[in-house]
Amino acid sequence: MIYIKTAEEIEKMRAACDLVSRTLGEVARWVAPGITTRKLDTIAREFILDNGGKPACLGYHGFPGTLCIEVNETVVHGFPSGYELREGDVIGTDCVVELDGFNGDSCYTFPVGDVDEKVARLLKTTKESLYVGIEAAKAGKRIGDISNAIQTYCERAGYSVVREMCGHGIGASMHEDPEVPNFGRRGIGPVLKSGMCIAIEPMINMGSKNVVIEDNGWECRTRDRKPSAHYEHTIVIRPEGPEILTTFSYIEAALGERPLREEQTTD
Ligand code: MF3
Ligand code: CO
Repeated sequence: MIYIKTAEEIEKMRAACDLVSRTLGEVARWVAPGITTRKLDTIAREFILDNGGKPACLGYHGFPGTLCIEVNETVVHGFPSGYELREGDVIGTDCVVELDGFNGDSCYTFPVGDVDEKVARLLKTTKESLYVGIEAAKAGKRIGDISNAIQTYCERAGYSVVREMCGHGIGASMHEDPEVPNFGRRGIGPVLKSGMCIAIEPMINMGSKNVVIEDNGWECRTRDRKPSAHYEHTIVIRPEGPEILTTFSYIEAALGERPLREEQTTD
């Protein structure tokens, strides 16, 4: 059952989405070699609670974090841990915030210091594919149009699309209908209607599309242990077109405000 949100509900979605976006902006300030993923998780949890929100992943079917931590070959649902980030890693942080009964969901994959050029290209393509998918999310089109746009964009660049995990409807629950796969045929699936809220989240692998789930039942990594990237926005379908409710602008501001590293300074 797909819920169409009222104007009032969309305002609540907007507030939840702003808070999850600001949370990832806070996380962005701390991503650096040496920090543990558990510390990042604590920063996110405290920020959400300080701002009146609820960390929606924490305790969700027993999930042990506020953030899903996705280091290098981890695709989704990694646990916060004592692992210290290293120069050259990439880390995705996926977060859901509940505020006033509604959920905002967003994910960003950060490079840690300087990363291999090939990995940087994977991140860039995956982020671009998110916007290509959003562009396809117009009222009257179908879910398959989003799926196909993402798949085509990423496969043309030489990457593969994870099959096991999808985007989703979102609202009073973190996961609502419909499913939003990152692969599939144009013109199939539910019709997009004004007032629908969905989370679009391409999970794109450098190597093969195959993944394995660890024994804990959560942590998902690439079978070939090559890197994977993941970006996510929550959007609402409007008569004029898709409107993105989350934003990476807080992240981009935080990354831009960082002091220049030594090798980049001239004096
Ligand atoms: N954005 C992720 C998803 O839609 C958030 C998962 S939270 C978890 O699946 F609790 F399930 F880990
Ligand atoms: Co999601």
